[in-house]
Amino acid sequence: MSIQKVLITGVAGYIGSVLLRKLFEQNINVVGIDAFFFGDASLVEEKDNPLFMMYHADIRDIAAMKEIIEKEKPDAIIHLAGVVGDGACKMVPNDADFININASMELLDISDEAGVKRFIFASTCSTYGKMVNDETLTEDSTLRPLSLYAVSKVTFENYMQAKPYDHVTPCILRFATVYGKSPRMRFDLTINDFVRELHLGKELQVFGADLWRPYCHVDDLALSILLALKTDKEAIYKQVFNIGSNDNNFKKSEIVDKIQKVYPNSKVEYVNKDEDPRSYRVNFDKAKKVLGFEPTKTIEDGIEEIKELLDSGVIEDTYENVYRNS
Ligand SMILES: NC(=O)c1ccc[n+]([C@@H]2O[C@H](COP(=O)([O-])OP(=O)(O)OC[C@H]3O[C@@H](n4cnc5c(N)ncnc54)[C@H](O)[C@@H]3O)[C@@H](O)[C@H]2O)c1
Repeated sequence: MSIQKVLITGVAGYIGSVLLRKLFEQNINVVGIDAFFFGDASLVEEKDNPLFMMYHADIRDIAAMKEIIEKEKPDAIIHLAGVVGDGACKMVPNDADFININASMELLDISDEAGVKRFIFASTCSTYGKMVNDETLTEDSTLRPLSLYAVSKVTFENYMQAKPYDHVTPCILRFATVYGKSPRMRFDLTINDFVRELHLGKELQVFGADLWRPYCHVDDLALSILLALKTDKEAIYKQVFNIGSNDNNFKKSEIVDKIQKVYPNSKVEYVNKDEDPRSYRVNFDKAKKVLGFEPTKTIEDGIEEIKELLDSGVIEDTYENVYRNS
């Protein structure tokens, strides 16, 4: 199917602002929706792009969503907007539930009614929570969400899969923990945060050194979305894909080792209390087989990129609230 116009919710965010530019490179029109909870600086350079139509709107305003979808008639919706991360959801639990679940359900319903052809949802591998018996998790493994954030993602995933559809092909992408440079930087993500701390010569405190996580560069997550837009609809209908790479499952201590190769004299303290209970190693074969997805960037690329960003000095104070979600 040829996709000419894509609507992105949460377009100003860390992933959205990267995806937007990748779609422009392919000459695809983008309708952006964002409530600008972290400002709109990530979009300033693109605001006059003729391929871009931006709406400052909240997805909870379902009448506004309906009006935009009916007016713009996008071929596909990429649903990224949400309260993102365990910490952010803990801070505003009611908003998190309402945005990540209720408003998302209504958005999906009106998309189908309006004849939108694809609805791609950004879920997360943290829905797996904690692996049992050292298993490597596939899309069919039991979900054990351990936070409000992960529960909200599982709830909406279940709704997507249970619903009958008239027009939409729904597809769920469970993203690995992301890293790398974006027009909306986030320094609350493990790799970005660790590089920043060691770059600034601080002593890094690491909790849960032995906990496993899969990682994926933000450019590659955007690439996976492009592939989900292009793959035959029969192959993705109501399907779940883990997005990441089998080679990028690491313990936190292994991530630290990689960063310390770049900052050899840096100081790290491993702390054993209050560990985040999440720990999961994930298998990514399905996305490779069905979507043809293979990451193009390594953790080392990401570390180098964040180092260069910090060296460039373009971000004056990386501790400002706009660079973190909680
Ligand atoms: N970053 C990761 O590691 C990661 C991993 C897995 C999944 N995801 C998922 O990918 C998506 C994007 O993540 P991100 O890192 O870009 O997050 P982000 O916080 O940088 O971006 C989210 C954007 O959504 C907007 N938004 C939030 N609520 C809104 C609402 N009610 N109406 C309109 N706009 C709203 C915010 O203003 C923000 O610009 C999220 O759904 C997230 O759960 C992210």
